[in-house]
Parts: sequence; structure tokens; C-alpha cells
Amino acid sequence: MMDAIRARMRESAIADEAKVLNQLVDTAGLTLGEREAIADHAVRMIQAVRNGASHGMMEEFLGEYGLSSKEGVALMCLAEALLRVPDAETIDELIQDKIASHDWSTHLGSSDSSLVNASTWALMLTGRVIDEDDSSGIVGALRGVVRRLGEPVVRVAVLRAMREMGAQFVLGRTIDEAISNGADARDDGYTFFYERLGEAARTEDDAQRYHGAYSQAISAISLRATSDDTRENPGISVKLSALHPRYEYGQREDVVPVLAGRVLQLACAAKDGALGFNIDAEEQDRLDLSLDVIEAVLRDERLAGWDGFGVVVQAYGPRAPFVLDWLYALAEELDRKIMVRLVKGAYWDTEIKRAQVLGLDGFPVFTRKPNTDVSYIACARKLMQMTDRIYPQFATHNAHTAAAVLHLAGKRREGFEFQRLHGMGEALHDVVMAESGVRCRIYAPVGAHRDLLAYLVRRLLENGANSFFVHQIVDDDVPPETIARDPFLTIEDQGPAASPVIDRPSAIFDRRVNSKGWDITDPLTVAAIEAGRAPFAAPYQWGKEGLSLIHISEPTRQAEIS
Ligand code: FAD
Ligand code: 2OP
Repeated sequence: MMDAIRARMRESAIADEAKVLNQLVDTAGLTLGEREAIADHAVRMIQAVRNGASHGMMEEFLGEYGLSSKEGVALMCLAEALLRVPDAETIDELIQDKIASHDWSTHLGSSDSSLVNASTWALMLTGRVIDEDDSSGIVGALRGVVRRLGEPVVRVAVLRAMREMGAQFVLGRTIDEAISNGADARDDGYTFFYERLGEAARTEDDAQRYHGAYSQAISAISLRATSDDTRENPGISVKLSALHPRYEYGQREDVVPVLAGRVLQLACAAKDGALGFNIDAEEQDRLDLSLDVIEAVLRDERLAGWDGFGVVVQAYGPRAPFVLDWLYALAEELDRKIMVRLVKGAYWDTEIKRAQVLGLDGFPVFTRKPNTDVSYIACARKLMQMTDRIYPQFATHNAHTAAAVLHLAGKRREGFEFQRLHGMGEALHDVVMAESGVRCRIYAPVGAHRDLLAYLVRRLLENGANSFFVHQIVDDDVPPETIARDPFLTIEDQGPAASPVIDRPSAIFDRRVNSKGWDITDPLTVAAIEAGRAPFAAPYQWGKEGLSLIHISEPTRQAEIS
């Protein structure tokens, strides 16, 4: 059963978007009347959010510096690139390139948030310091002063501005600090999931460091777990890429047992502390491998009787419904209860670019946002039918998505929860919690600045675009009805097919077809390559008659090999 689901899942890795979407619309099973009721509910929530408290820092920031402004794009490039720049000289050149040529002054004072304005001021000053041509007025004088101080000052100023900005999205540098900073939200009724920042270990030392940090975090959080019910206690999220430097399909035979051992150690500690323990979802090329690790961990008898083990499923991937079926089948077979956090997916840009660069047959994620929204609702419907084995956790900052989940839940108010990221979706979740009484949990990154940037860049990229909910909610010019538009209706209008705006991997060049690549992280592709190589496994030689098999005795062959 599980093998059959897994096989169908693999066949859907790069699927025909229109075909999959038609199936997902069926799975969601909503009538026009239900869809209208969901959209109306979402409009009311958006109005309540806009009438209520101020937006979170992230929303304010992205409202000002979305991907629609060239300054926003420059800032995101800078934040992203600073991750990898090794030396001061290159940092200076990068700042020169990304900051100097933009007009930051148009953003000054236009946000309601003083912090956003402060960041703008820092960037504007820096931009003007570098821009040698403009020397008039007060800014010019200031610029002159700072220019005299030299480039290191500019570099420090920019790094500090980025650091200040980053600090807004982390609950604390240590778990203890985070727990203390989360006191107000806990008083308001929220529970927490902590993420000890860290991912993409490059070396075994990195992996050991992250493993140690996760262990310490679990010990610290366990002290705060007072309930016998895991769902009421705080939990911790981990990323598999933090725990092994070669977390890749080609290394699976070595990686799966080692990773499973490391995760199991952490999971046992979380079980002892009655915590939730969650495996975050990362890039699609790691999905198949992650399921092997998850299965190996969950099969361990030491975890029997604990229902705190959680997995994240990304609705933007066409494999999502199969992953849910597979997880349910696994839980049934092992007689376990698990948690599943449903997200849309945070690596969209990376997935699109990777598929284009590799020259794949298509994309491993949907290419139109309403397609992902509908997939999320279809997956939510499935999860609501799996609650005997799965505790669903709906992670979203989108009012329409939250309204759809509440609609699917009917009168149920328990047995599932909502989740949001720290610094985002605060006002919406206040409204959802007050209105529905459903548990809401905050996913709170904890750690040092050096480990934050990858996370921060994902937030900037996924929310900077105009079409994204977080970007629209802060813009009062966008009517609630537009923000809460029924994604099924949009699909009916524009059709479910792949986006015509995003170049297919084969079509990224104007003058020629892109070369076709082989994705050696895809089990079916690897199987096809192996099948193609198999006939040539025996030694061949070129002769007058072309390629022919060399007849050598086995002892001679072995001797030659050694
Ligand atoms: P919306 O604005 O409604 O949706 C934005 C999302 O739509 C994008 O992120 C993307 O997934 C999708 N999208 C955007 N453009 C397109 C397009 N052209 N075609 C198709 N799809 C598109 N993400 C992970 O990947 N792994 C995790 O482990 C994870 N954990 C999370 C935990 C919590 C508690 C939360 C709240 C989020 C988590 N996320 C994780 C991030 C999550 O994927 C994003 O926050 C989420 O996608 C934003 O969705 P939304 O419903 O809030 O916003
Ligand atoms: C991320 O790290 C929240 O897990 C999600 O982007």
C-alpha cells in the first residue's frame, strides 16, 4: 500500500499542472455557494484586521519594500548576497552595486512604522554616501561627513541596518530569551513552536554544532512543558539539512541511517519532555529522501505511544496529496498518531530557477499562485478526513485560506490548529482566535544573526510580490474583495494550466532550446539512467565489428579491477 502511494507520488514529481489542478478542484469539493461564503468570511476578517491593531513589522516592511520597487529588489539581493560574501572588500563592492544606484528617499517617512523609516534612513544615507555626484543640501553635507569616514563605516552601517531588520523576525537569541520574550503572546492564549535557526550544514562540524543546539533547545523547552497533552505544550522544529552536510539523494545509502539516528536522538528527547517535534519541509529535491528518514525514525519502537512527531507538507508541490496519503498509511501501519503542518511552501523562487537551470521537463511546484491556494484547500480537506491519525496544523497568514479551513472544519473547533510565523499575520490570527476559539500557535525562530539570513530572505521573497496576501493587506488601496478573491474563480477565468509568464525550462533562451538536463535527485530519473547503463555493465571493446563484449574469465577480471 505505502509502496504503491510512493510510486504514484514519484510519478507526480513534475506533473501536468492543468490535469493535477482539475483533480485538486474535485478533491476540494466546494460548491459555488460554499466558495462565496468563504470569500465573504475572508472579507470580514480582512476588514477586522484593517480596523484593528497595527500590522506586524514584517508586513510594514514588505509593504514599503516589496518586489515591485527596484529598491526592494536591491535590498533583497543585498541581504541574500551578504550571506555568501567572504571579505570586506567584496562587501564594499556589493553595497556600491546594490545600494548606491537607488532612490531610497522616495520611501522615507512613507511607512507608519518608525523602524521601517529608520531602515530607510540608513539605506538612503548609505546610498547617498556612495553616490559621488549628488552633493547638495543637508543630505549632501551629511553624506560628505560620512564619506570622509570611509567605506568601512558604510559597511558597518549597512550590516547594522540588516542586523536591526533581522532582529525583528527572531524571538530571541537563546531559547530562554525567546521564552521570556514570548510571555505576552502566551498570556494572550498563543502556544509556541520554536525553531533553533540553522540549516544547510556545510561540514560535519556544522552538523554537530546544530545537533548540539537542537539538543540544548529541547532541554530548555522541556522545562516549560507542563501539560500531559503534547498539543498544549510548546514544540520544536528542526531542518534535516542542518543535521548532515551531504543531505542529498545521491548519498542516500550513507545519509539516511546517519540522519535517522540523529533525528531519533532528538525525537526521543522531545518525547521525554512531552514536546511537539517537527521536521520542516525544505527543497522539493529532498522530499523523497526526507520521507525515508521520517519512516526510519518513526518505525523505532521507542517513539510508540507519543503523538508529538510532526511533518510539514508543502501544498505548492503536486506530490502533496500523495505525501498526505503516505503519511496516513504509515501512521496506520505503525498504529501512531502524528502531526502534519500544511504550508504553501517557502522555496518557490528557488524551485523555479533550479528547474530552469537544470533544463527539466517542467516544474516541481505550481506556477500560478491560485493553483497553490486551491491545492492547499484540497489538502486541508484531506487532512480534515484524517484526524483519527493526524493532528492538522494549518500554517497560513492568508485570510481566505484560514476562512476555507474554518469552513471545512464545520462545527469542529478542536483536533486541529492554526499556525503563524513570529512577526507576521499577528492581527489576522488575533481575529481568527477570538472569533473561532481554535488554537493558534506561533512559529518562532531563535538564534544568532549569522544563522538568520537564509530564513529572512525566504520571508522577503515569498511576501514581497504584489500578489501575496501579506503584501496586499498593508495596502489600503487594494479592496478586501480583491484580496479575498476566490482562487477557484480565478482558475475558472484564467484556466488551470501553467503560467505563460514563467519560461518553461526548455524555453529560457531566445535563440535556442535549452539543453535537457537529468535530475539525479529524482528516483525515477536515476532508475532510468541505471536501466540505460545496465547493458554496458559488462566490459566492451571497439573492434572491426564495432562494439563487442570482451570474454575474460572472472578471476582475470577481478585481478584487473584490483
Ligand atoms: P500567501 O500570500 O497566500 O501565499 C504565498 C505562497 O504562495 C508562497 O509562499 C508560495 O508558496 C505560493 N506561491 C506564490 N507565487 C506562486 C506562483 N506563481 N505559483 C505557485 N505558487 C505560488 N515553508 C516551508 O517550505 N517549509 C516549512 O517547514 C514551513 N514552515 C512554516 C511554519 C509556519 C508556522 C508558517 C506560518 C509557515 C511555514 N512555512 C514553511 C512558510 C510557508 O510556506 C509560507 O509562509 C507560506 O507559503 C505563505 O503562505 P500564506 O498562505 O501565508 O500566504
Ligand atoms: C522557513 O524556514 C518557516 O520553515 C520555514 O522558511
